[in-house]
Amino acid sequence: MISKINQACDLVIFGAKGDLTRRKLLPALYQLEKFNKLHKNTRIIGVGRADWNKNFFHSFVKESLEIFMKEKLNDYFLKKLFLRLDFCNLDVKNTNDFIKLQIILSQKNNTIINYFAVPPNLFSSICQGLSKNQLNLSPTRIVMEKPLGTSLKTSQKINNQVSKYFKEHQIFRIDHYLGKETILNLLSLRFSNILFFNNWNNKIIDHVQITVAEQVGIEGRWGYFDQSGQIRDMLQNHLLQILTIVTMSPPENLNANNIRKEKIKILQSLRHINDANFDKNVVLGQYSAGTLNGIEVPSYIDENGANKKSKTETFVAIKVNIDNKKWAGIPFYLRTGKRLPVKCSKIVIFFKKPIKNLFDNHNKILPSNKLVIKLQPNEGFTLQVLNKIPSLNSEYILDNIDLNFKYSDTIYKNNLSDSYERLLLESMKGIQTLFVSKKEIEESWKWIDLIIDAWNKKNEFPALYKSGTWGPDESEKIIQQDARIWHND
Ligand code: BG6
Repeated sequence: MISKINQACDLVIFGAKGDLTRRKLLPALYQLEKFNKLHKNTRIIGVGRADWNKNFFHSFVKESLEIFMKEKLNDYFLKKLFLRLDFCNLDVKNTNDFIKLQIILSQKNNTIINYFAVPPNLFSSICQGLSKNQLNLSPTRIVMEKPLGTSLKTSQKINNQVSKYFKEHQIFRIDHYLGKETILNLLSLRFSNILFFNNWNNKIIDHVQITVAEQVGIEGRWGYFDQSGQIRDMLQNHLLQILTIVTMSPPENLNANNIRKEKIKILQSLRHINDANFDKNVVLGQYSAGTLNGIEVPSYIDENGANKKSKTETFVAIKVNIDNKKWAGIPFYLRTGKRLPVKCSKIVIFFKKPIKNLFDNHNKILPSNKLVIKLQPNEGFTLQVLNKIPSLNSEYILDNIDLNFKYSDTIYKNNLSDSYERLLLESMKGIQTLFVSKKEIEESWKWIDLIIDAWNKKNEFPALYKSGTWGPDESEKIIQQDARIWHND
């Protein structure tokens, strides 16, 4: 049985020297130390082929934190963190080596959490090594990072390899968007406010837009990204996760199984996009050179290490329909891209207009009410409503006004934590709600595979867009064909 309290854990990081560990895991662990969130007996064991001792690992951790923490390090917390650190020199491809890890872990009776911060082709040998030393038995957990496959078939292969050694309740698959405070808040916004609870359906909502815009390019990750593209890198996981949380029916309660059950129903109701309807519903783009924040940036095919003939998409806009009773007839427009003008993730809910416009003498067209949920940055939300402009005139002249909530204006302004802090902590508590189930991954790949197949058959180049713009012109058409426009701030 998995316990739900903060317990003493041995967090074993495979890939301790890697980028993910340096950029995300170590800063998150430092913060958890600072906020006193780690159990006093919790240990952190880095694993790698390097012949390092504890002291060397300490210096590596310190140097990484100095580079990747946004604040000055505090000696007291750093020393506290160091007391938890150990390093195990081990070649994951050699199952005999795992005895060294077994010796370290057997010094305590802590719950073991194996974090796989390594490419998936190493998962299988790590699992074998762990199991050979009985380090896979419940309540031991594993935490896995994307990319978990590039298609249904390859993701099933990874899941099957891992599930030979670990049961589903031991497997924690990370989608870091699920650790964002604003994504979690979607549940409270939707299900605790009767105003939204009762109006969240096709009778009241006109359409929904989800935008995840990034300013960054591919940040030296050409090798990975060119095999992946924006569909696999962002749509298959982060955007589909957001879509499921925005549209799922109320779960029976907040248990992982019940939430996952509702999310899966949405994934299974996504209308298929295939050769027949691809052009009407999907636009792919690739960035060309341009200017961002006053700096000239190269085109995708001029990035370091690039293949000049690459057809990989760095932008996708897609119109999605959910074929169930609640959402019949309501389009969801999703777009995500690199080298866009701003970094911003948001959900915009457009409500329908009243059937009769009582104010049409002076307000021929009533704008629709909108709820703009800002996931990042400027976290919060804005509800746009119509309001009479105060005056002694007898006419009703209306104005669209914003009711604003910003975390930064409240006493909670310092409570927004990085998603890795939350996800590490939840994995230590053994709560799976914010992690993606095998079934969710498989259902999302089933849908994505059809889109990728249809695109490959076309054998075309993505439309070019200038860096610093909102994607190719074609992405406007996808929404304009329905007499709507993208919501850009
Ligand atoms: C990652 C993708 O999963 O998410 C990156 O691999 C992307 O390409 C990143 O830049 C975006 O995350 P965030 O939290 O900065 O929006």
